[in-house]
Amino acid sequence: MMPTRSDAVALLEEWVENEALRRHMYAVEAAVRHYACLKGADEDLWGLAGLLHDLDWERHPDEHPHVGVARLRELGYPDEVVHAIQAHAYPDRTDVVPESQLDRVLYACDELSGLVYACCLVRPNGIDDLKPKSVAKKMKDKAFARGVDRDAVGRGIELIGLPWAKHIQNVIDGMRAVADVLEVRGEDQARRRGEKPDLVTGARDHVTEYSDESFWKRSGGWPRRPEGDP
Ligand SMILES: [Fe+2]
Ligand SMILES: [Fe+2]
Repeated sequence: MMPTRSDAVALLEEWVENEALRRHMYAVEAAVRHYACLKGADEDLWGLAGLLHDLDWERHPDEHPHVGVARLRELGYPDEVVHAIQAHAYPDRTDVVPESQLDRVLYACDELSGLVYACCLVRPNGIDDLKPKSVAKKMKDKAFARGVDRDAVGRGIELIGLPWAKHIQNVIDGMRAVADVLEVRGEDQARRRGEKPDLVTGARDHVTEYSDESFWKRSGGWPRRPEGDP
């Protein structure tokens, strides 16, 4: 039987202590799930690959992703998930070429989500009004978020075969759905500046669900998103 999302979250919490890395994994999960929804793929299956792709990064940085992959195999994670996790580290760390849709989507969301996250943190309104154009501008600014591998972002856009603006928008949309957990909203930014958050009504109808700490522990509790073109 396929491990559930709660199994995967428990595993993540066991292996990863660094809060920033956990957030990165949740961000990638959200982006990959959004693509699964747009493409009519299995959201739970795809979500596992996003959530666990950097499982061993903190404990075994030199052997990433091989140690994590071995553990996931032992635990009975599906081959598609394992393959995508191997392929996300191509070509620097594995020779597993990204082939399947899931491989390509994970690859394309991984580095880009880091850039989107960094963009949110330097904007007064965070992710609330973030547009692909601003992300693309920061992509060209090599001094900004140096840790983000621009070549990998470029390869991801090629692999996914969408116009860059469309792909960036999809990643933003995916991450926006979990913005409360990632703390990338305008009100999070206001809090960082020491201001009282200016609550926007309407756009935040789902806040109770996302703010519930148990949300991350539940399996199958992922919100459905409207259908649309990938
Ligand atoms: Fe990685
Ligand atoms: Fe990653």
